[in-house]
Amino acid sequence: MGASREAAERAGALRDEIERHDFAYYVLDAPIVPDAEYDRLFRELQALEAEHPELSIPDSPTQRVGGRPLPEFAPVRHAVPMLSIKTETDTGPSGAINFDARVRRALGLGEDAPAVEYAAELKFDGLAISLRYEAGILARAATRGDGETGEDVTQNVRTIHRIPLRLRGAAIPELLEVRGEVFMSRPDFEHYNARQRERNKPALVNPRNGAAGSIRQLDPKIAAERPLSFYAYGLGEVSGWPLPDSHGGVLDALEKFGIPVCEHRTVTLGADGLVAFHARILALRDALPFDIDGVVYKVNSRVLQERLGFSTREPRWAVAHKYPAQEELTEVLGIEVQVGRTGKLTPVARLRPVFVGGVTVTNATLHNEDEIRRKDVRVGDTVIVRRAGDVIPEVFAVIKERRPKYVGQQEQWSLAKAVADRCPACQSAIERAEGEADWRCTAGLYCPAQRKQAILHFASRRALDIEGLGEKLVDQLVEQDLVRSVADLYDADRINVEALADLERMGEKSAQNIVEAIGKSKDTTLARLIYALGIRNVGEATARDLARHFGDLAALMTADVEELQRVRDVGPVVAESIARFFAEGHNSEVIARLEQAGVRGRAEPRQADARAVLQGLTFVLTGILPTLSREEAAALIERKGGKVSGSVSKKTDYVVAGEDAGSKLEKARALGVAILSEDGLRQLLGNSS
Ligand code: IVH
Repeated sequence: MGASREAAERAGALRDEIERHDFAYYVLDAPIVPDAEYDRLFRELQALEAEHPELSIPDSPTQRVGGRPLPEFAPVRHAVPMLSIKTETDTGPSGAINFDARVRRALGLGEDAPAVEYAAELKFDGLAISLRYEAGILARAATRGDGETGEDVTQNVRTIHRIPLRLRGAAIPELLEVRGEVFMSRPDFEHYNARQRERNKPALVNPRNGAAGSIRQLDPKIAAERPLSFYAYGLGEVSGWPLPDSHGGVLDALEKFGIPVCEHRTVTLGADGLVAFHARILALRDALPFDIDGVVYKVNSRVLQERLGFSTREPRWAVAHKYPAQEELTEVLGIEVQVGRTGKLTPVARLRPVFVGGVTVTNATLHNEDEIRRKDVRVGDTVIVRRAGDVIPEVFAVIKERRPKYVGQQEQWSLAKAVADRCPACQSAIERAEGEADWRCTAGLYCPAQRKQAILHFASRRALDIEGLGEKLVDQLVEQDLVRSVADLYDADRINVEALADLERMGEKSAQNIVEAIGKSKDTTLARLIYALGIRNVGEATARDLARHFGDLAALMTADVEELQRVRDVGPVVAESIARFFAEGHNSEVIARLEQAGVRGRAEPRQADARAVLQGLTFVLTGILPTLSREEAAALIERKGGKVSGSVSKKTDYVVAGEDAGSKLEKARALGVAILSEDGLRQLLGNSS
């Protein structure tokens, strides 16, 4: 049966579109769509061709591994082709279970046969590279290109500090081709972009383009400016070396040669082991200092790998198991302005609902007016939305190629114009102070939006944790003037079961629960209470430091700016915010009423929070650490709540010292500051998770 005309036309259109994206992505390093969108087009074409084999033509993009060499780089023929691997797109456990089932079937293993041993590792999101070491010296580096022929990018790869120019150790192979991924870490990416913006130069769209762009940069000096990393995941051509008999063994051996291999890898048994690894890495994903889009499973034994062999272009012994995409395309339906707790006006994009990072997103922050201008976001635009972990979804970039004509004719968005110079919640004047990025409503707690946000913040989980006091309820409480300040929550004349039960969507039972939750919230810590007050520039960490330093609210309230600055990490700006907050008569009145109601906040002994076990600790990094870059170490410390500072003082808790540590280490010794090795740091971090 011939393919329907419709299917043939669709396949043709898909091929054209994929080719355009391939060119933009691989040749221009300027992709027009996020990967998830590209993958969808690619899979649709694959499915069409599978369904109608007569549509499958030799020059279809599905027939090649991807990419075209730029004419300017010398071509490199790969003696062992650089293949790609099959992708399991089902982000649930079935991806792992299906792979294990396929492997067992192909090996002829019955139900009673023992579990297969797998090596599991991360799927790095960068650019595949083959490093050729001849007699232990880095002789050539090549991109994958179309899998058969890549490009000679040796000069640029040599600028990557983490890639050794000479292998370490004894028993160096005659020839060793190491394959792996070049990528840009997130901190390196942020740092590079910040510097570019300072110099009014173009920023990178995402870390992957940063990596691809610098590797394929013809001027190695420019390539060298962009900080790249590398992790190995396999081998190409090898001679004069006894190959280890498992994949895990290969990675261990590479590590001994001084090649970077990611520590997040394991050797495990059967589908259960794979599922556990998948889940463990998903939980870790947002804490990694680099992007991954999934994990990779490989049959560990080389003998079994050989028995399994290859299908047309993919090994049967390996699979990539994806995580939900963190970037998706959608359309901007409108731009609204929200009023925050401190009066900050935040532009928010209302979006055509889109599933990204595991949830459906309908709104995404646009941060502030300058960011909208920088990205040039307009209503009607198609945009990339990014949502990583708990982070608030954001509009990442505009796809200019998809901008309809009428949108191009619109004026650039202006916040003042959008809200007609008035706070959208209370119609008071708005202002943007010099040197600040944000517009603010000037009405303070008279503004109902600020009042609502202040109450929601006060009740939030990390503040006084009043369960059930959510947005819908707070809206009603403020609109009906039942609650004007957080102190009113504890005023039984205003908030009682009867009054609450009268509100919309409230029954007797839920009213009862809320009254109970409010009662329970009185028993809280000083740190939570300080945080709950919503003082500008005082986050959880600072609130904790203040609580520890002052011991009770009265002492904090009467402290002057000088005294405040004696608290760890409290500088002039934060001190000023605190002093100004307590100088406001309205605020001291609220606090007095809270105290009367029994909300005092008890001082509490230092306690280890599982997530932020380094909270309140200050680190200084010095010297060259054996495996972590400065940025990586700093990111790990900060993720656990610690602070990283540039200089050693009496306030320093730990100095993490590596090779060639100099004056900072001496100073630490002189001051009696604890000194850690990278291992020590890892233990500190590890014990916390
Ligand atoms: S193994 C024969 N392992 O994903 C097996 N690939 O389709 C060759 N990638 O572009 C690949 N992390 O650059 C392998 N841990 C990993 C990987 C990985 C990322 C990339 C690779 C290639 C694609 C595989």
